[in-house]
Amino acid sequence: MKSFETMSVQTAKAEGRVIQPKVMPVYQTSAFSFSSLEEMEGYYEGNGTYLYSRTANPNTDALGQTVADLEKAPKGIAASSGMAAILAGTLAVVQTGDHVLAAEDVYGGTFLLLKEELLRMGIHVHFADFKDTKAIEQQLIDYPEVKLVISESITNPFLRVENIEGLCGIAKQYGVKVLIDNTFATPYTIQPFIHGADLVVHSATKYLGGHGDVTAGVLVGHGDLIEQAEKRIVNFGMNLSPYEAWLTIRGIKTLALRMKAQTENAMAIAAFLEEKLRVWYPGKGAIVTFELPEHVDVYRFFSSLGWIGIVPTLAGVETTVSYPYSTSHRELTDEEKQKVGVTKQTVRLSAGIEGTQDILDQLAAAIN
Ligand SMILES: Cc1ncc(COP(=O)(O)O)c(C=O)c1O
Repeated sequence: MKSFETMSVQTAKAEGRVIQPKVMPVYQTSAFSFSSLEEMEGYYEGNGTYLYSRTANPNTDALGQTVADLEKAPKGIAASSGMAAILAGTLAVVQTGDHVLAAEDVYGGTFLLLKEELLRMGIHVHFADFKDTKAIEQQLIDYPEVKLVISESITNPFLRVENIEGLCGIAKQYGVKVLIDNTFATPYTIQPFIHGADLVVHSATKYLGGHGDVTAGVLVGHGDLIEQAEKRIVNFGMNLSPYEAWLTIRGIKTLALRMKAQTENAMAIAAFLEEKLRVWYPGKGAIVTFELPEHVDVYRFFSSLGWIGIVPTLAGVETTVSYPYSTSHRELTDEEKQKVGVTKQTVRLSAGIEGTQDILDQLAAAIN
């Protein structure tokens, strides 16, 4: 008879039983066990799949491959956040001494990562107005050290739709790789890889997860680049937890349904607001940005929104509003804010899946 102490550690195991769950279970384990020393050593010789969850785990692998399949890219990898995925994708291409060229209207967090953290690694970043293809090409001519171009398929908060094919066409002429952040569009709406991007990145915290309960990132693209990114994720410890990967996969199962409903609501909201305000809506995706008139007190508007939540993120099933000036773009200088057009009157709305008329009624009440 084993001792109490031993029995409480060596608990019942499902060994030997064939179990076929309907969905992949959460492999909530930091490591995997082996039946012999030879088998464990065999892992290092390329036989066997899982050793230690920071290096690989079935749930995070499944998430990477699911998004790769949806984006029609060969390979994908999960990361602990959208920022981790952007960093891993960037460092898959560039190293100290190289330069990066980025759109000046990238997400505020990306802007800071590039401007501050990459510079600390000796990687210089140039920003340009990507509406101007001549300006992009001029930068590539002026700075032959540029190895990577970064932009977003739909930008935040003014929802500029990137000409991905045009951008990739120019970059390829100069032997430069392209990374596209596809967070706002999702592969339901745009698939940057098939338009020529080398790497596509997601803050899965947004539409892929879709329910506001995970922080996660995914990077997909060419196999050799994903292998490089994987090394950065493993060595910097930027791996995603198995449970967050599992939740994100569960969210992705309804991505098409959510995107369809949210896009329809966004279209109706944009049409409704356009009658009253200056509105940015590109005809796709589920974010609508608008400008309140100068005389409107922004704080009063936000406090009149009733059940529409004030949340500094986007893409959940609930309709929410955010205020770029003091959240996503807070760290930008006044000059930088002015350049991208973010003012004290800019409001970003993320359409949810509620009844369309209920959303319009609530917005009408707030505006009145
Ligand atoms: C377009 C875009 N990319 C990347 C990120 C960063 O993602 P995360 O917060 O998951 O790190 C965000 C976050 O808001 C975003 O909006």
